[in-house]
Amino acid sequence: MPVKSPAPGDLEPIETASRDELQALQLQRLRWSLQHAYDQVPHYRRVFDDKGVHPSDCQTLADLAKFPFTSKADLRDHYPFGMFAVPREKVVRLHASSGTTGKPTVVAYTQADIDVWADLMARSIRASGGRAGDIVQVAYGYGLFTGGLGAHYGAERLGCTVIPMGGGQTEKQVQLIEDFKPHIIMVTPSYMQVIVEEFRRQGKDPRAMSVSVGIFGAEPWTEAMRRDIELSADIDAVDIYGLSEVMGPGVANECIESKDGPVIWEDHFYPEIIDPETGDVLPDGSEGELVFTTLTKQALPVVRYRTRDLTRLLPATARSMRRMGKIVGRSDDMLIIRGVNLFPTQIEELVLKQGQLSGQYQLVVTRETLLDEVTVRCELTPQHASADRQAIARELQHRIKTLIGVSTQVDVGLPNAIERTLVGKARRVVDQRPK
Ligand code: DLL
Repeated sequence: MPVKSPAPGDLEPIETASRDELQALQLQRLRWSLQHAYDQVPHYRRVFDDKGVHPSDCQTLADLAKFPFTSKADLRDHYPFGMFAVPREKVVRLHASSGTTGKPTVVAYTQADIDVWADLMARSIRASGGRAGDIVQVAYGYGLFTGGLGAHYGAERLGCTVIPMGGGQTEKQVQLIEDFKPHIIMVTPSYMQVIVEEFRRQGKDPRAMSVSVGIFGAEPWTEAMRRDIELSADIDAVDIYGLSEVMGPGVANECIESKDGPVIWEDHFYPEIIDPETGDVLPDGSEGELVFTTLTKQALPVVRYRTRDLTRLLPATARSMRRMGKIVGRSDDMLIIRGVNLFPTQIEELVLKQGQLSGQYQLVVTRETLLDEVTVRCELTPQHASADRQAIARELQHRIKTLIGVSTQVDVGLPNAIERTLVGKARRVVDQRPK
């Protein structure tokens, strides 16, 4: 397994501060942020008042649990600018997350917010092994999506040479990698697989590419996917997490020397894990829904924002801040198949264990009668194009049944049978149930 494991470089003092120092800073910032939201955003004033809480009730970090949650629906209900905590003229940038239904959610940044974001992205790239002077190919989409510009500003802030390639145009991605020889690529993991395939299609060995580190995020991916990419491209694959409502990429980032889950940049974002049903705060280590409160954001503070992402908070290792486990899935992506909860990531682990299959897969959900049925669509790698598809399908079906406990149909296609997502996040679930 390739591990460059450089010395951590010049860390910011807070990255190695004691837990007490970190918590003191968090409490001070949390109190500011709650007051700022209450004073400047009518929605927060109303929901705090309705719940009978006031920012001054926050005397300890645990007191945050008394405050109401914020959801995507709250942001949508105040579309477009109703949740801003600064006059619109102070907003220097807008982004928006593509809502699958109806209006997008709009997020805003002051100049100070953009600066913090660039600093945290620089910190993230450095944690991934990047250094000033490195060449960074940004293959996240530019535009309203936060991935491209977030990565771009961070790489510039660290002192890197940025190739603002954006998503898509796979042949050109390969050409630029060959000609400009980037050290780092920032892209969704599913699209990295497409780039690797393109190298092979052109008869080139992807392991020979100049890139030594990939900073992958924006969609759930598994340890099996990490191994697959690391081996096929001979790089270190590092996990970056974020969401537009909280900032964008760089809310948390894995350290290359430990690769044990993204470190949450807790000096700017306070995490909690809650039981998604009851809303109760769960102790560290328990699996539940990740909730964030921003500690320093000016234009769009969020208080206890429910991410819908399911994961765990893990103890600090390479830095003073806590880590998060790999995202199991989003509560909205969870399928319930005859009573069994199923996430696409569970299928991904098993697909990638089957050596003749490429990592491309989709779950097609249908309902012929009263019950939901899942068909796992996957495909052979070009090297195994003549393998026995039915035998592989039977084996995978058996493993899914034994290890996850659901009965599925498995459809193994020829190489390239699965549609690739070239820009944006991979579409793992195709829901064909009647509405
Ligand atoms: O995806 C921001 C981002 C860009 C993160 C580039 C990393 C790299 P949104 O479009 O608002 O923002 O989507 C946020 O994507 O709630 C998760 O469900 C998912 N997600 C993001 N990073 C990861 C990750 C960007 N590393 C939503 N692992 C989040 C798993 C991730 N899921």
